Amino acid sequence: MKQPFNHIHLTEINSTNDYIKPIAEQLDDNELCIVSADYQTKGRGNAGNHWESEKGKNLLFSLAIKPLGFPASKQFNLSMAGALALKDVVSSISNDISLKWPNDIYWKDRKLAGTLIETTIKGKYLSTIIWGVGLNVNQETFTSDAPNPVSLLNITGKEFSTESLLQKIAERFQVRYNQALLGEKEIREEYMDSLYRKKGIYTFLDSKGEFNASVEGISEHGHLILRDKEDNLREYDFKEVKYII
Ligand code: BTN
Repeated sequence: MKQPFNHIHLTEINSTNDYIKPIAEQLDDNELCIVSADYQTKGRGNAGNHWESEKGKNLLFSLAIKPLGFPASKQFNLSMAGALALKDVVSSISNDISLKWPNDIYWKDRKLAGTLIETTIKGKYLSTIIWGVGLNVNQETFTSDAPNPVSLLNITGKEFSTESLLQKIAERFQVRYNQALLGEKEIREEYMDSLYRKKGIYTFLDSKGEFNASVEGISEHGHLILRDKEDNLREYDFKEVKYII
């Protein structure tokens, strides 16, 4: 899949993920569509969080695909494809970019981009995919209580065109999406290589409290596997564990 795509740009919308949902249902097989916006009145993050983004400063978009033959059990491959596509592009602008499990993009210890993946399932396959991305580009200061945000402007001192970033990310997404469909060995290796805090012992928080552990790996279904100081392996689904940064 590599194709020209429909692109709708809006000045203001509640959430590009919400706006694109009915469009996603109408797409042909393998067809792709993008909705971007200058501002979202109800930008959504993971776990019901609000996504902060100053008007006209950042890249906010949702990409929808009607996938053909994407097994629902392999949904984590999508997270890896999306995260790597973003890393491909922002790594050409700055060093120190890593992927924080499951699908955040970090610069050093700060969050540069977040993604919200929403899918529908038919039988054993994904029926629609919505990949929502918020990349902090030209925003100078962040006012919400979101921890440790950073923008490309903060990192480099320069402003960037959100439209040109979008074109590059859409292109890399298609490459990474095809890679994810072909098999997961390679994409998984690249994802693991790019993982935030992949080596060393760090503090994490789960429902029982803080503990120190190292990253052991990612399970087939995308769970984070940690090795604690007692040498026990602990496996976590998304939102069951937090990195203490
Ligand atoms: C997160 O890290 O919590 C995910 C943030 C995802 C934000 C993007 S902005 C474009 C798209 N529309 C939304 O409402 N959310 C995603």
